[in-house]
Amino acid sequence: MTRREFLEASLASSLLVERAGASSSPVMDPSRLPKFVDPLIVPPVAHSSGLKPSPFHTEIMAPLYRISLREVMQRIHRDLPATRMWGFGSTSPGPTIEARRGQPLFVEWTNELPDRHFLPIDYSILGTESRKTDVRAVIHLHGGRVRPESDGYPENWYGPGKSAVSFYPNQQDAAMLWYHDHAMSITRLNMFAGLFGVYLLRDKWEDELNLPKGKYEIPLILYDRSFRENGQLYYPVSGDPAKPWVPEFFGDAILVNGTLFPFIEIEARKYRFRLLNASNSRFLYLKLSNNRALWQIGSDQGLLTAPVELRTLTLAPGERADVIVDFAQQGGQSLLLTSDNYTICQFRVSDNSSADDSALPAKLRTVQRIPEKEAARTRLLTLEGGGDPDDPTTMNQPMLLNGAHWHDPVTENPTLDTVEIWSLINVTDDAHPIHLHLVRFQIIDRRSFDLFSYLNDRQLRYTAAAAPPEANEAGWKDTVRADPGMVTRIVIRFEGFVGRYVWHCHVLEHEDYEMMRPYDVIA
Ligand code: C2O
Ligand code: CU
Repeated sequence: MTRREFLEASLASSLLVERAGASSSPVMDPSRLPKFVDPLIVPPVAHSSGLKPSPFHTEIMAPLYRISLREVMQRIHRDLPATRMWGFGSTSPGPTIEARRGQPLFVEWTNELPDRHFLPIDYSILGTESRKTDVRAVIHLHGGRVRPESDGYPENWYGPGKSAVSFYPNQQDAAMLWYHDHAMSITRLNMFAGLFGVYLLRDKWEDELNLPKGKYEIPLILYDRSFRENGQLYYPVSGDPAKPWVPEFFGDAILVNGTLFPFIEIEARKYRFRLLNASNSRFLYLKLSNNRALWQIGSDQGLLTAPVELRTLTLAPGERADVIVDFAQQGGQSLLLTSDNYTICQFRVSDNSSADDSALPAKLRTVQRIPEKEAARTRLLTLEGGGDPDDPTTMNQPMLLNGAHWHDPVTENPTLDTVEIWSLINVTDDAHPIHLHLVRFQIIDRRSFDLFSYLNDRQLRYTAAAAPPEANEAGWKDTVRADPGMVTRIVIRFEGFVGRYVWHCHVLEHEDYEMMRPYDVIA
């Protein structure tokens, strides 16, 4: 049995248990709903509510945003009742924070969530032992170069009625960052509930490229979910009441900014889409109908060197893509965005096109490669565990980073301003999107190796030539797909701050169950 078959079988059996019970309803098949009856919603832009002196330069005042984590009732589709979600302010995804390089800001994140969680917490996983505070949250700015105390360390969670202030210096290149919950061992549930939003950092360099902007620049936050017939979120359980954790989540309904099958009314001209895969586990393979081109201009940490023409865009959980699509020849037509067999949304292109003076520049910026020889150290880090895919009884085992558990002593301790190469040796049968806090990095290559000999004597024997990263992953990254049976090498300069951060798999079910480790940047 493959992992996927096991997951499907366990989902089917937990549904059977549910159907036998009188009160609960089974998972809805979203394909029975009419498509494209709801317009796309663009999350509101956040507004600051005052000024506050900067922590390290008290003469500088920085805007303070007050953003509350709240339960919200939100309609995902015209024909369904409102769905209970957790969001920020009055929406999920939360409001978009618009930031500019060199202009720091504060966010006070206030936990105004109810006292009880509505999703199945696994109390057997570390960090969840205390039943006193089921509802715990802490917000991390994914891709942000921030001090440890503002980074949303998983153990720094707080309960309802409490808040934390984070300082975001915005001293880094323009990029689509995103904020989301990071509470120890329940991140998968808090994010499944809806605790995430977009943070667009801009700079002068980007301004000068004359990319489509204003209403022609649209964030598209994509994530899969399952719903009950009554429109409420359904998160599966393992069937073992003492250990409800499931190793991955895949739902049949892919939402865009909180709506199922939205349509997007657009003009016959160029658009800039800021794409984020906010799914728990699902990788997206995005395509436009008629095989229309997507021009990717940026990845996780900002602009590429030049646009990359794509027919399929792969996005792992946590990854972002900055994409230009030219609809100039599509007036009066409609196009679909799909992933595998899933329909995501419809673009309705109007007949009349207003003048389009925006550009798709041939050159975007230079990205200096970090020379491998600058590396002060290479770390071999194994992605392992997760049980034996041929033995379903082992499938509730955690996956681990280099054999270590969360509470083991810190082993990764790079020195500030030095370069390291991390070789991610994936011996599991899953692809894992690996994310490091604080830093940006470059992918060197991926290379297949002899798994058997590595497992036997920890000798790395390569079985093919090294493959360089795809053109659309050759810029600055903060999340990298480590494919199964491959060694994925990344080169990282540890810039910014000293202190404790984390690195982890961005499949949230893995992250929550030991596939996350603290790391220290030391002076
Ligand atoms: Cu997007 Cu540590 O997370
Ligand atoms: Cu993983």
